Order: sequence, then C-alpha cells, then structure tokens
Amino acid sequence: MDTTRDTQHWKSAWTLDEGVTYLNHGSFGPSPDCVRRAREQWSEQLERQPMDFFIRRAEDALDATRQKLGEFIGTPAGNLSFVDNATFGMNVAADTIPLGVDDEVLLTDLEYGAVTRIWRRRCRDAGARLVTQPLPITKDASAAVDTFFNAVTDRTRVIVVSHVTSSTAVILPVEEICRRAKARDITVCIDGPHAVAMIPLNVRILGCDFYTASCHKWLCGPFGSGFLYVSSKWQPKVRMPMLSWGGSLSGRPVRWQDDFDWVGTRDPAAFLALSAAIDFMRSVGVSDFRSTTHAMVRDAAMRLTSMLGREPIVGVDSAMYGSMISVRLPQPEGWIAPINGQCDPLQRALWERHRIEIPITGWNGQRLIRVSCHLYNDRHDVDHLLDALHAERDLVFDLPILSPLRGFHTDPGTVS
Ligand SMILES: Cc1ncc(COP(=O)(O)O)c(C=O)c1O
Repeated sequence: MDTTRDTQHWKSAWTLDEGVTYLNHGSFGPSPDCVRRAREQWSEQLERQPMDFFIRRAEDALDATRQKLGEFIGTPAGNLSFVDNATFGMNVAADTIPLGVDDEVLLTDLEYGAVTRIWRRRCRDAGARLVTQPLPITKDASAAVDTFFNAVTDRTRVIVVSHVTSSTAVILPVEEICRRAKARDITVCIDGPHAVAMIPLNVRILGCDFYTASCHKWLCGPFGSGFLYVSSKWQPKVRMPMLSWGGSLSGRPVRWQDDFDWVGTRDPAAFLALSAAIDFMRSVGVSDFRSTTHAMVRDAAMRLTSMLGREPIVGVDSAMYGSMISVRLPQPEGWIAPINGQCDPLQRALWERHRIEIPITGWNGQRLIRVSCHLYNDRHDVDHLLDALHAERDLVFDLPILSPLRGFHTDPGTVS
C-alpha cells in the first residue's frame, strides 16, 4: 500500500518542526492545527469575560463535550469526567476503591510503570498485596487470560490492565478479562490511553468499572485532556484526591462530576477542544485513519525485521497491534533496560545525529524499538529511520556505557 500518497493530504493539517522525523506519537502526540486553534479560541473566550465563562457557560460547554466524547467511546456523558490525563484518572480510581489488609490487586506484567507505582503505594498504604502475573502475548486470548487468571484468588479485589500496552504496543484481551472478572465480582480498571481512536472502543460493551485515558495520543486532543469513565455503581463513591468547593458553579443539581469540573480555577480549554479533535478524526474517517496508520507501521515492522533479523513482539499479520508496533532490537552482551534517567545510546544518537524521535526501551529483558505512525507520517520517515539505523549499526549491535538523560525517570520497561 502506498501510504505516502494516502497521508500527503493530511500531513498539512499539522505544523511540526521542519527537519524532525517524529515517530513517537504514542508517547506525546501533537494535535493538528485545527485542534490547537479550537483550544486557543476557548481560552480567548475565558480571558475576555472570565465571570461569564466560569459561572454561566463552562458547565454547559463541558457537558456538550462530554456528550460528544461519550458518543465516540460508547457511554453516556453522565459516566464521564474530564481529567488532565490517564495518570490522574488512575490515581482517582486507586483512591476510590476500598482495599483492606491482605486484599490483592492484580496487574499484568505489561503495565505502565507509573500505573504500577500508583497501585504499589495504594497497596502499601492499605496493607494490601500487589500481584503481578504474566499475560502471555499470544493470539489465543483465552489461553492468555487463563494464565493471567491463575493468579486470581479469593482476595483479589482489583484487576488493572492496559487496553493497549506501552512499551510492547500490544492490544490486550480486555473484553475477556472484564467478563471473567465480573463473574468473580472483581473490580476492573482499564488503562486506555493508546486505545482511544486507535482501535474500536465501546465502554458500555466492555463493562469495566473504571476506564481512563489521555486524549493527546491517538485521538489528537490537546495535551492535558483526558477522561475517567466511572460505572454507575462507583459514581457515588468516587473520591477525588484534589478537593475544591464541590457542587455546581451555575447552581444546578449536584452530581459526581462536579469535583472534576471545578478543581479550583483553571482553564478548561484543553477539554473543550476535544470536540474539535473528534470532528477532525471524523473528517479523516476513523477507520481510514486506522487502516492507513496500521499499514504504515506494518510496513515499517517488515522492513525493520528484515534489516535487523529480529521479530516484532507480535507477528506483522497479527490483529494485536494498531498504529504502533514494537520490534525487537539486537541485544548486545550485557545490555540492560534503561532505568532511572538513562536513555539507550541508540535512541540518543537517533535524535542527536539524525533528528529522529523514537523510543527504545526494554520489557522482560528484551530491547525494543517502538514505531508509532499518525497521519503526518509517511514512508519517507521509515526510510530515514532505516538509513539512520544503518549509519548507527555500531550502536544497534554494541553497548557503550549508558549515560544519564537528565530529568527523565523511567521504570524498567516503561515508555510513555
Ligand atoms: C499504557 C499507558 N498508561 C498510562 C500512561 C500515562 O499517560 P499520561 O502520561 O498521559 O498520564 C501512558 C503514557 O504513555 C501509557 O502508555
């Protein structure tokens, strides 16, 4: 498939720095210009008459945006609150769910480092146990979930699972996990930032208890826009860690989202501009976006595989990936996953010498390069990556001393 031709039209929707090959939408996805403008226009309205905006208009505007987002992800607006990002949403879920001494919280071995950290602290505070169990990456979803559920006990209160994983970029069988968890009365929290727009999502059909996501990734929302879905069972119990006045500024009846809509004074423009992001994705055609970007990463994975002689984490014909894929890299003797402020020297060289942004990480002792493609990418970006990897072949195969990347802390196996 000639993805270059297909995406040319959409590339101009973004203003990105010239000379940068950006293959990391999965971590920090830039918004198209129309979304940036929409955000600026909302901020402009706030600045022109703050009283009118906050007291009379903001709540209705947030409701209308919730409605539109709810239609996009398959849930009524009344089940959604806006949060800054998935990290925020997961903290709220962790603070809300009661845990007692010796209760267990079960995570897969594919979870995002920050999420594991949130639950580790929550378990420590409650005297509960954090249990990590492998969820094998196999197309036999039922067998994978069997293995994962081997760790379920009578004390398992919560399951935390990514919809699409971070460093491994794999779509997990969350439907099956939710179904089995429900049968055992276990609460399920889904960590979904990569799933929104990248794959079909219907929260109502999933039937989870909590679902949280950042919308700056595949949906192309502004940075600082995310949501937390809470099932009706949990809504009266939601415990917001950041308390403000509570209740409605415009004086309408109280509801559970009030604590999220008013966390003290702040500009809600990022949330309100989500409407423009949804319009943008619809104007592209969500399924066209999926097939185009999937074809791009599939092509990249095939070319990387033949160049490096290593397989992607999932087969290129697998249905277990969408718009990003992780490919194994050669693993020089003594290689360990970058940890605590370190950066793989190859990632550093790709940026410093070739102006390519792409994450290189580790999971389960394997060295991975994760390719993300959105509509501003094309085959030339992958050509450039392959040329750069060829030029940096010493760093692909050998191991200089890992050097610190200031100000950035990762757990092993973690990438945004
Ligand atoms: C699977 C997963 N969960 C959670 C997060 C946290 O997202 P954020 O930093 O937007 O809160 C990320 C970030 O990339 C992620 O990949």
